Amino acid sequence: MLDDEAWIAKSLQPSVYPPESLHFIHFLILMSHHNNTSVIILAAGQGTRMKSTLPKVLHAVAGRPMLGYAMILARQVTTNTVAVVVGHGADCVRTYLEQEKSQFDPYLVVEQIQQLGTGHAVQQAYPALTRYSSQVASRYVIMCGDTPLLTTETVSALVHYHQAEGATLTLLTTVLSDPCGYGRIIRGKEGAVCRVVEDRDASPEDKQVSEINVGTYVVEAEFLEKALGQLQPQNAQGEYYLTDIIEMAVQQGQKVVAWVTDDSLETTGVNTRVHLALAEKEMRRRICERLMLAGVTILDPDRVVVDHQVTVGRDTVLHPGVILEGETHVGEHCTIRANSRLTHSVLHRGVRIHDACVLEETTVEDEAVIGPMAHLRPGNVIHKKAKVGNFVELKKTEVGEGSKVNHLSYIGDTWIGRNVNVGAGTITCNYDGYRKARTIIKDHVFIGSDVQLIAPVTIGEGALIAAGTTVTEDVPADALGISRVPQITKEGAAARRRALLDPSRFPSDGKPCSTEDLPAAPPVFQKHQESP
Ligand code: UD1
Ligand code: CA
Repeated sequence: MLDDEAWIAKSLQPSVYPPESLHFIHFLILMSHHNNTSVIILAAGQGTRMKSTLPKVLHAVAGRPMLGYAMILARQVTTNTVAVVVGHGADCVRTYLEQEKSQFDPYLVVEQIQQLGTGHAVQQAYPALTRYSSQVASRYVIMCGDTPLLTTETVSALVHYHQAEGATLTLLTTVLSDPCGYGRIIRGKEGAVCRVVEDRDASPEDKQVSEINVGTYVVEAEFLEKALGQLQPQNAQGEYYLTDIIEMAVQQGQKVVAWVTDDSLETTGVNTRVHLALAEKEMRRRICERLMLAGVTILDPDRVVVDHQVTVGRDTVLHPGVILEGETHVGEHCTIRANSRLTHSVLHRGVRIHDACVLEETTVEDEAVIGPMAHLRPGNVIHKKAKVGNFVELKKTEVGEGSKVNHLSYIGDTWIGRNVNVGAGTITCNYDGYRKARTIIKDHVFIGSDVQLIAPVTIGEGALIAAGTTVTEDVPADALGISRVPQITKEGAAARRRALLDPSRFPSDGKPCSTEDLPAAPPVFQKHQESP
């Protein structure tokens, strides 16, 4: 569990919340009601319209499941226990929460076995929270697990307004040009909120209303507890609607107010993959904007895909089509050119990644150069100023400072020292069909082109491996390793062969062709000769 101090320390990390950002101010405001507020996140619904085996709230936006956004928002609203109502795919949802426990704690998971409506979901969460919460709350923020674009600013404004108004219930609303599908806000003559009508229960007149219920509420505990006991499933869907508590409060003379946000994109509830794509696009736009404002050049933000937890240093340039995924961290003054993907990878300072590279779980140190078209599979460390060139595949390989693997190579399970040159077409034969074996290439080794290194094998410091060699044994330091089929040169043989196959081209030296000069003619050529 986070105590207040730890929470402050965590939230002040500049990479998470730059002090100049609004987050920081809202965070300070929120601190004032951190302990007496609890948050309930509704996440039990099936999400039928997603047409998916994955529970809806686990669908990712910018690399993070939607529920993660709700949890993080909740964590900024309270230090108190957060209740998550789960149902469909409960086990998967629990597993996800468990994985991210350190970010989300303290929370408790409440299982809603049957999804009898949003009111029913809160009925399950409320008693669990009052029993197991670290501190008894006097106020509840209730929100959905499927509104990933909702910001701390908006929720904190909602809470603030609730407090300022001394309201019993405050709901978040927005005005949509197409309000279809949402609960409508019905206001009285004076403009006061009277009730929320669900789309399916709405009269044609109600349906004209374009102000909708976002599904985020602040409710005083005392009222909520009583109201939950009075919910009835008398509506088109036979469900316990949470929205019914609004009319109840009004009827009881309690103060009900609405905070209208003009950012209707932010309030998008994801119900289909079309909404998911919309949320994805907006989240990516925000991420790129944050990076650009922090000093990263992004040539075409519409075509750069950066996950939420990725960090990029100042004066780094991202070209179109760059994808930065997962735990990827890019240092300052790097350039990543078109269509390269980095997954769980770390670039230090001044690294250049040329076009169309794939880097997975790879670390690249200062001023190293990769690509174009290099494939770095998991487990590589590329040290300072090393070069990995085009059509090179690396796996579990360390390339020492200043070393080069520049052309058309496969290097796996290999340790390469400093200032090594690995020639074009060099292959480590690291797999015998049963086991993987390691190759060690020590400092200052020169490996010529087209060398096969049959692992396990060690090349000693300063050794030279001749082009075309198949290395099967260790080569000691400063030795030359060479294995080649001896070359035979036959004067005039090429011309005689031509003449035999094509009599119009008689050899210039006039000598007849002997069969010795002729290995087999290429099969395609033979065929051509035979056919009429
Ligand atoms: C709800 C609101 C509607 C609002 C809309 C905003 C009600 C009755 N209606 O409608 O006014 O405009 O959200 O998106 O509240 N859930 C559970 N258990 C359940 C049912 C739902 O946990 O038994 C969760 C869902 O997982 C989801 C959230 O509650 O995260 C909202 O449920 P959903 O079915 O999407 O409600 P809407 O019909 O969209
Ligand atoms: Ca919904």
